[in-house]
Amino acid sequence: MGRYKIKDLSHYFKQYKKSVKNPVRFWDKIASDHFEWHQRWSNVLDFDMKEARFEWFKDAKLNITINCIDRHLKKKGDQVAIIFEPNNVDEEVQNITYKELYARVAKMANVLTEMGISKGDRVCIYLPMIPELAVSLLACARIGAVHSVVFAGFSSVALSTRINDCDCKLLITADGGFRGSKVIDLKQIADEALKSCPGIKDVLVVKRTHQPVSMTPDRDYWLQPLLDEAAAMHVAEVMDAEDPLFILYTSGSTGKPKGMLHTTAGYMVYMGYTFKNVFAFKKGDIYWCTADIGWITGHSYIVYGPLLNGATTVLFEGIPSYPDHGRFWDVIQKHKVNIFYTAPTAIRALAKESAAYFENRDLSSLKVIGSVGEPINEEAWKWYYENIGRRRCPLVDTWWQTETGGIMISPLAFVTPTKPSHATLPLPGIQPALMDELGNEIHGNLVSGNLCIKFPWPGMARTIYGNHQRYIDTYFSTYPGRYFSGDGALRDETGYYRITGRVDDIVIVSGHNLGTAPLEDLINSHPSVAESAIVGFPHDIKGNALYGFVILKEEAGNSDGDEIRKEINQLISDNIGPIAKLDKIQFVQGLPKTRSGKIMRRILRKIAENELNSLGDTSTLLNPEVVDNIMSNRL
Ligand code: PRX
Repeated sequence: MGRYKIKDLSHYFKQYKKSVKNPVRFWDKIASDHFEWHQRWSNVLDFDMKEARFEWFKDAKLNITINCIDRHLKKKGDQVAIIFEPNNVDEEVQNITYKELYARVAKMANVLTEMGISKGDRVCIYLPMIPELAVSLLACARIGAVHSVVFAGFSSVALSTRINDCDCKLLITADGGFRGSKVIDLKQIADEALKSCPGIKDVLVVKRTHQPVSMTPDRDYWLQPLLDEAAAMHVAEVMDAEDPLFILYTSGSTGKPKGMLHTTAGYMVYMGYTFKNVFAFKKGDIYWCTADIGWITGHSYIVYGPLLNGATTVLFEGIPSYPDHGRFWDVIQKHKVNIFYTAPTAIRALAKESAAYFENRDLSSLKVIGSVGEPINEEAWKWYYENIGRRRCPLVDTWWQTETGGIMISPLAFVTPTKPSHATLPLPGIQPALMDELGNEIHGNLVSGNLCIKFPWPGMARTIYGNHQRYIDTYFSTYPGRYFSGDGALRDETGYYRITGRVDDIVIVSGHNLGTAPLEDLINSHPSVAESAIVGFPHDIKGNALYGFVILKEEAGNSDGDEIRKEINQLISDNIGPIAKLDKIQFVQGLPKTRSGKIMRRILRKIAENELNSLGDTSTLLNPEVVDNIMSNRL
């Protein structure tokens, strides 16, 4: 426990009990007390866990941007809503007040309407971390269009797949993006993607880097001149509670990425509630989440959660290592950040650097620090708590997923005593369960199992866009009647949860979810590759890295191995993005298989982890002899 005051945890337990005993009353009160509605709901919740059908706040009418912006204008119009901290230190910071944000969103909403976009249309957003990104999300929500943000580090193929999967009509992109010392050619990548996206009628282009780009007549438009012409006022579209708000893609363990669909009222209530309580947000706090808006963390806790609470949220364009490894600490000092939320990967990378980068920075403004995206190992937890939080700030290790919309298991700052590497307790309203392989719930403490959620919560995704059956199959059929997260967890002697990692074929590399099967399919398309298997292995900084075991075709026998390795990683870069590149590629003669022909990934995982003594029984394999061969040539 740190040198800050913890309130009595019994209040949490009281609230928690109430929330479980009567979830309807619990969420009804939160929704009533903290948000503005055009029309109240007739029913808080109607659901069917088996069919994965969830209806929250039936008949309610609202617009989330009225809750994020308009309702703050009276009292907080001149307060800064977004602090834009550019990549380059010599570029000026932008302080965007709530009033200015209103005008920018209204103009953008009017531009979108002018372009023929209306309620229900899907708009793809492929932008760097600049204010236009947040403004675009809000403008879509303003007019009832469904935003689908694609992380600006994704390749053209990944972009076109996502555009086509949900039939986007319009793309918002930029000429380029700054990322550390690099410039990303976003427009060029988008142009390549659009060759196979017939549904995109128009492209709005933000001028960011001022690099020369090609503009296709009658399709591509510079955004600024259109904004200059647009009116700075806009009457928000009135939305139904369950109208779609956004689609965000996440990797699947098989097949194409899953477009998780989030809807309006439940998402709003959950983001407003979780942001305020997990981070103990108080009026006037400056809040900074270092994620990219291209991921759920950015959607929920850079844009929606903070703005719903009238907070000042920092939007940072750069990376932790540019111009040097002190950048995060400089930004905290410069903007007097009170709440800081980042990922274990960044913490591990920065912990390796000289103490000079943080020792002399004034971090005294910090009151709460947070972690998200992957398990935070004890060493990183302690480093973060001691050196950045200076033992004065509660460290909230927040467990959640793209699918859950918002934070599910986490300490509540100043309420829950923290423990290294433990996400601790479920938020009120969240009912976790640990399950065994036979489908039984494991009760009691000092146990481990697969992490499920037993009861709906407002922020949960409603479906996978265009494929509800896949939504049911992926999340609601392993343990019928329950949401299965795909994560393993243990419960310690006090009932605290510790998330241990994925139990499926998804590997989290630097906080990014990567499905191994789709990567294997891609590698197998290389002309020299016969078959492949990919597993994760522990990596000091990235948490996990990818290890590929690849069987080459006979005719590739004389080719240069290093050349093929390069080509494989290029293939991955081109089709997914550099984040999915393999760290190690070992050419093998065969892959360990069961008698029914399934690859035994468990064995490959052990080899990749260098746990050669705990391979388990290999005698039941179809081809036990390949194991020795793989082990002796391990990279
Ligand atoms: O494995 C868990 C891990 O990240 C997965 C969700 O990834 P994504 O949908 O990209 O969302 C990331 C941001 C919420 C989870 O299934 N994960 C996330 N937070 C934690 C975590 N693992 C351990 N501890 C966490 N705090």
